[in-house]
Order: sequence, then C-alpha cells, then structure tokens
Amino acid sequence: MRKLIFGLFIAFLPVLGLAAGAGVPLDHIETDHTDKASLQRGAAMFTNYCMGCHSMEYARYKRVADDLEIPVDLYEENLIFTGAQIGELMKNSMNKDMAADWFGAPPPDLTLESRLRGEAWVYSYLRGFYKDETRPLGVNNVVFPAVGMPHVLVGLQGLCAVEPNIGKKASVEPLSGNVNNSSACPEYATEGSMSGAEFDSAMYDLTNFMSYMADPIKVERERLGIFVLIFVAIFFVFAYLLNREYWKDVH
Ligand code: HEC
Repeated sequence: MRKLIFGLFIAFLPVLGLAAGAGVPLDHIETDHTDKASLQRGAAMFTNYCMGCHSMEYARYKRVADDLEIPVDLYEENLIFTGAQIGELMKNSMNKDMAADWFGAPPPDLTLESRLRGEAWVYSYLRGFYKDETRPLGVNNVVFPAVGMPHVLVGLQGLCAVEPNIGKKASVEPLSGNVNNSSACPEYATEGSMSGAEFDSAMYDLTNFMSYMADPIKVERERLGIFVLIFVAIFFVFAYLLNREYWKDVH
C-alpha cells in the first residue's frame, strides 16, 4: 500500500511543479490550431511586428505556408522580408550582442516560447504593457516586470496609463450596471488604432500562431490519437479472447 501511495505521489510530481510555476495571475486562452484564418492573421502580425527582433529559427517558412494553406508565391511576396528562400529557416538579421546593449537583454528566439512560458502567459504578456516613466523605454509589463522589450504594438493598442487588468474577472456593479475589467486597459495615456476588444482579438490570433509554431503537429497528432485508441479498443477484444483460450485448461 505504501509503495502504491509513493508511486502515485511520484506520478503527480510534474503536475505539482506546473501548479507552482504560475506566479502572476494570467488571462486564460483557448487556442485552436484548426482555425486557419486566425493563424494566418497571427502569422502576418508576427512577421510585421515581431520578426525584426525575434527569429523563429527552428521552423521553416515552407512548412508554415503549407500548414496555414498560404500559397507559396503570396507567402514569399508578403511574409518574407529578408530575401530568404521559402525552404530556409525563419531567421532574422538581428545582432544578438548589439541588441543586448540596446535593450538590456537580446530578443530571444520565439519558436518554442508558448511551450516555455505557456499560452496564457504569452497572451497576458502581449496585453500587459503600461506606461511607467521610471523604466528606460517608458513602459513596463504586469506579467514581466522590468521588461527590456519596447511596447511595439503601442500604435494598435495605445499606451495604457495604469496597470492593465490581467487575470481579474470582469464584474458588474449591481447598482449602476457598469462592467468593471471588461477590457484589459481601463484608462489610456494615448489611444491606439484598435478598440480594447479588437486588440484582444488580434492578440488571440498572434498567440494562436505562436502556439501553433511551438507545436505544429498538434492537429495531426490528435487525429492519429483517435485511431490509436480505436485500435487499442479492438485489439483488447482479441487479447482478451486469446487470454481466455490459453487459460481454459489450467485448473
Ligand atoms: C525592438 C525589438 C523587439 C520587437 C520588435 C519585439 N520584441 Fe519581444 N522582446 C524584445 C526584447 C529585447 C526582449 C527581452 C526582454 C527582456 O528579457 O527583458 C523581448 C522579449 C519578448 C518575450 C519574452 C521572452 C521571454 O520568455 O523572456 C516575448 C514573448 C516577446 N518578446 C514577444 C514579442 C512579440 C509577439 C512581438 C511582436 C508583436 C515582439 N516581441 C516584438 C525585443 C523586441
């Protein structure tokens, strides 16, 4: 019995580790790798706003074009700015040493970022920038305090004047009917071109894309998994019958 309890404890250790990992409250996100339109919008956003600094060098353009059903010529024309060939790895020309001087830390490769930090973390981080004059670049992040990255999406989101409501549930005031925390940023120092809801939806697409990049085979794996389970179920019947046959004469 003691052995069993010990075994169960060991089996659940990784889960305990995960639970301890999340320090700051985060906004939950349900990604969907079958939503090709969302992934395409995310890919466009990543290429336009992020790839200047962050590479995705463990993936190839061609794979992304195929998976996202983007025709190769369109992809080359609109989503490759470095002159790279479609079969190449998704690198950029950022010099890591110089970048470390500029930002305090070099922009890391983001291919596996959503696996490293979790999708909820990435989604919350992208919506977590706010104005903070004490920081060298004038912005800080609720999810990543003292972050070195500039708020590159300030033109879209605007600059949040106060700390955004990340990981706090929206609540309705019973008397006035006002909804609190319905948008991540309650008050802007400068307005952006998108509304709060539009920006959230754009960040959903971007996080969805980053999640796909970190696990491009997910849809296929889950599809195959069903067949494997069906096979195991059918195989069980034969294994059971064979077992019964073998033991029939043993008394
Ligand atoms: C001007 C350069 C620059 C651009 C453009 C940029 N970033 Fe960053 N980013 C950085 C730097 C520098 C860091 C490292 C910050 C640190 O460690 O303090 C960083 C860090 C990050 C991190 C956290 C990495 C980690 O786990 O430590 C994520 C996630 C991220 N960036 C996502 C993005 C996304 C998504 C975009 C596009 C919308 C983007 N970045 C655009 C410079 C940039």
